[in-house]
Amino acid sequence: MRHALVRGVSSAIGRCELTHREREPIDLRRAEAEHGQYVAALTDLGCRVHELPADPNLPDSVFVEDTAVIVGDAVVITRPGAASRRPEVESVRTFLSHHLEILRMAPPASLDGGDVLRVGRTLYVGASGRTNAEGIAQLRALVAPRGYHVSPVAVTGCLHLKSAVTEVADGVLLANRRHIDVRAFAQRDWIDVDLREPNAANGLRVGGAVLFPAAYPRTAERLRALGIPVRTVDVSELAKAEGAVTCCSLIWDGIAP
Ligand code: GLY
Repeated sequence: MRHALVRGVSSAIGRCELTHREREPIDLRRAEAEHGQYVAALTDLGCRVHELPADPNLPDSVFVEDTAVIVGDAVVITRPGAASRRPEVESVRTFLSHHLEILRMAPPASLDGGDVLRVGRTLYVGASGRTNAEGIAQLRALVAPRGYHVSPVAVTGCLHLKSAVTEVADGVLLANRRHIDVRAFAQRDWIDVDLREPNAANGLRVGGAVLFPAAYPRTAERLRALGIPVRTVDVSELAKAEGAVTCCSLIWDGIAP
């Protein structure tokens, strides 16, 4: 069974962390409605969705991806790079401990799950403003015994590695290559975003489709033209909080109900 963990939108999302976006008002009701559509799409795509309650004290907590990195039947609980986000991990860890073996990071490591792109047994890890060298080293040590290889990638001009590159078919990467050191990705196939849509590199591969922001129709069409099934969702309000489609869930295959 495929599981997805999500968390409701915090009523404090207007006070979220922002790094590469200007702050603009976020309509909470619209953001909640978008999140509901996102959850419905995950369900349609075959996920059993588990939803943690929204937390009014944790503005960014809808972006659960940053709190954990799932590797097979284990999960590395991260130490997010923004101090305001570190309290998010506790409830995620508690929930996931019923499903997966818990592995932990320790200070001075920092790492956001949005910086980790898994392609087969390789974890590409963005060296970003949120993920430091110690975070990458600790992740490598935790996952190596499980047969995963960590490959660091320099990231510039965007929040996370997965702001700039995601996998949209086996070994095929959708990217805005301006933000990443592509030398880390030797021998991968690339699809470039339409450069009129520079933030369109974040798609979530799930249930045989790519869940993709409705705001980027040109890049979506590019994927469809290559035979990649795309399901669009409107996440424009959540995007004002510098989030995207991968950020809003943690997905794993497991047997527990
Ligand atoms: N607002 C998302 C983040 O900065 O982590």
